[in-house]
Amino acid sequence: MTFARPTILSAAVYGAPARRVANSLDVAAMPAQERPVFCISPAALHAQARLFLDGFPGEVAYAVKANPGDEVIKALHSGGIKVFDVASTVEMATVTRLCGKVDLHYHNPVKSLSEIATAWHTFAVRRFAADCREEIAKIAQVAGHASGAELAIRFRLPSLKASVHDFSSKFGVNPAEAVDLVRFAVLNGFVPVLTFHPGSQCTDPQGWVRHIEAAANIARDAGTTLTKLNVGGGFPSRYAASRAPRMETIFDAIRDAATAAFGSDVPALECEPGRALCAPGVSLQTRVKLVRRSNGDLFLNDGIYGGLMEVSQAPDLMPFYRVIRDGQILTTAGGDEFTVFGPTCDPLDVLPHKLRLPADIREDDVIEFAGIGAYGMATSTRFNGYGEADLIEVSEVFTG
Ligand SMILES: Cc1ncc(COP(=O)(O)O)c(C=O)c1O
Repeated sequence: MTFARPTILSAAVYGAPARRVANSLDVAAMPAQERPVFCISPAALHAQARLFLDGFPGEVAYAVKANPGDEVIKALHSGGIKVFDVASTVEMATVTRLCGKVDLHYHNPVKSLSEIATAWHTFAVRRFAADCREEIAKIAQVAGHASGAELAIRFRLPSLKASVHDFSSKFGVNPAEAVDLVRFAVLNGFVPVLTFHPGSQCTDPQGWVRHIEAAANIARDAGTTLTKLNVGGGFPSRYAASRAPRMETIFDAIRDAATAAFGSDVPALECEPGRALCAPGVSLQTRVKLVRRSNGDLFLNDGIYGGLMEVSQAPDLMPFYRVIRDGQILTTAGGDEFTVFGPTCDPLDVLPHKLRLPADIREDDVIEFAGIGAYGMATSTRFNGYGEADLIEVSEVFTG
């Protein structure tokens, strides 16, 4: 059998661009290599961009932190995403280098004075977020007191436990404090916006609905007609252990809640998804390094210090997976359960669930994990000298 020869985009995840296309089964059939391989599909990233651009009732920004890789940003940009939510000045530089002059939100609620100044002067950022008076005062110090820049006040409600990661413990003020901050923002010459984050991988539309209701009350109590409401990220992706509703169900719930809560004064809506835009566009191919058959232990060439970081934080984010040998998918039905370790010497480097794998699984077999594009690539470490991966463009990515 001959395989289309794919082009390796780079020897490290965020390296120089190149091109070519292969199916991820073809990738697995290439001669065995030491490093794990991320298979990235621009077509799948375009499809996610379209899902949001066509379905969300407002502006869609990509939260770059979820995956700041060049190939991901370029694919989402060419797929129609023109607004980016950036967490740092480094992300501003990356987006500007790849996409030219685009609209940037700086919605990290914690920024140093010099970061705000760089954002304002170098990258022309005019959309900020804050959750305390001190931060608002710093932005006003850079922007001046009649800037007309947008300032999104980040508020929070008690957690519904509907998301995998709860963000309310770190950022956001309660609704009464938000009323005060909206007034303070107006006094300082900003256009007030409200923003929240329902928690990452939020699978219940109520996560958005109740915040939208609270936003209407905050605006009313502050005596402001809100022109914009940012409903954050949190939109779910597909994982084996996390059942998510269809995205359209969440979009409809957001649209209906905004109409019900604001009546004739519905603000323009914005969202800033990270995970849902980038996760489905990337799979991760790991190779078996060793099977210790006597006790059912199996070692891979990547683990929780690399592309599988999120699984260690939240077992619900366990991805779909498949096993490939010589370009053929092996059945796992009737197989054995293995404890799956990563390559480092740290005992924490283990998946939280045992995996069912073919009983005769052996060195160099490939285990491919689906929907891995969010956060794991971005947070991959160099622990024990690992952390380098190859990046290969595929026309069709494994989605589980
Ligand atoms: C301000 C802000 N917006 C958007 C996101 C993206 O969240 P998600 O990846 O859950 O969509 C995050 C995640 O940390 C965030 O902090």
